[in-house]
Amino acid sequence: MNPDMNRTAMKALTAMQYGPIDTVSITEVPRPVPGPGQVLVRVAAAGLNPLDVKLATGVMKDVMPVEHPLVLGVDAAGTIEAVGEGVTRFAPGDQVVALTYPAGAIAEYTVVNDGPTIVPRSSSLPVETAAALPTPLLMAAALTTIKPAAGQSILLLGGDGAVASFFLQMVARSGARIIATAKPEHAPRVAALASDVIDYTSIDPVKQTLHLVPGGVDMVIDLVNAGPGLATTAAAARDGGRLISPHGGPPTFDRGVTATYLGVEEGLDQFAERVNEVASGELTVRATTRPFTQARQTLTDFAAGRIQGRRTVLTL
Ligand SMILES: NC(=O)c1ccc[n+]([C@@H]2O[C@H](COP(=O)([O-])OP(=O)(O)OC[C@H]3O[C@@H](n4cnc5c(N)ncnc54)[C@H](OP(=O)(O)O)[C@@H]3O)[C@@H](O)[C@H]2O)c1
Repeated sequence: MNPDMNRTAMKALTAMQYGPIDTVSITEVPRPVPGPGQVLVRVAAAGLNPLDVKLATGVMKDVMPVEHPLVLGVDAAGTIEAVGEGVTRFAPGDQVVALTYPAGAIAEYTVVNDGPTIVPRSSSLPVETAAALPTPLLMAAALTTIKPAAGQSILLLGGDGAVASFFLQMVARSGARIIATAKPEHAPRVAALASDVIDYTSIDPVKQTLHLVPGGVDMVIDLVNAGPGLATTAAAARDGGRLISPHGGPPTFDRGVTATYLGVEEGLDQFAERVNEVASGELTVRATTRPFTQARQTLTDFAAGRIQGRRTVLTL
């Protein structure tokens, strides 16, 4: 038994209320206890996501309200510390990777339901890399369900982000023509996987796409815009084409363009397989690692886009 388990409190990165991102802090909160069908994970590393910033600041409070204090973080890797009644898939000491959506990962301990959101981590996968995976890997896996095929054309907005990076690697051999957006300084690494790269900072991606593919692309994957703003980018799709987004928005657009809104849940049945692809080197991710003690500054830097690398991971 871990002597630390006698403590009933733990340290966690916490938002006490909605507010500027630098108001989050490391506080002591009650250590969670696994109920029936749950496992307690001692967190070794936790990845940061745009969602953490949105939940802490409250920009999504109308669509996704949270209770305070909120323990931030959705991506964790660590060791099973204890299992609740009825759990047979895991035992104390097992190494795991977990999605703790919508909160709870950036803490000494987190509780996860024994189900598709938690999978084993092989020893060939460093724990910091594992923590960089769940949300963007699962969202990218969800995007693969649109099944890009040879001969199809796709506009990918947000082409240098964490989700896009995994998605581009996953569909690299599909034969689809993928036109991706990126800042000029990131264009070379995006061009390694996409057919065309548009500098969204100086060129209108929709106009440029319609120039490259007169009549419009088969699908627009928009990882940047949300809601009514998606109509602007849907204009790059052909008549009767599709718009795919991880954010909500209208069901249809002009000219018979239809929307598909996907989330991490649509990628869960690929979780173990995709984690194994990272362990084997088939998929790669570049993560920047900082200590948990610097969590507030790191989340502030992450929110301001000051951290290089596609993923930011805190080590506990
Ligand atoms: N629904 C779900 O389950 C789910 C799951 C995962 C992610 N998401 C959402 O999906 C989005 C992408 O996530 P992520 O982790 O990949 O984020 P990320 O790593 O922060 O990437 C965002 C990308 O968007 C680019 N970007 C910013 N403004 C842009 C603009 N005006 N035009 C074109 N590109 C622009 C950024 O480029 P620069 O760095 O060059 O500025 C960056 O490459 C986020 O909004 C996230 O919340 C949703």
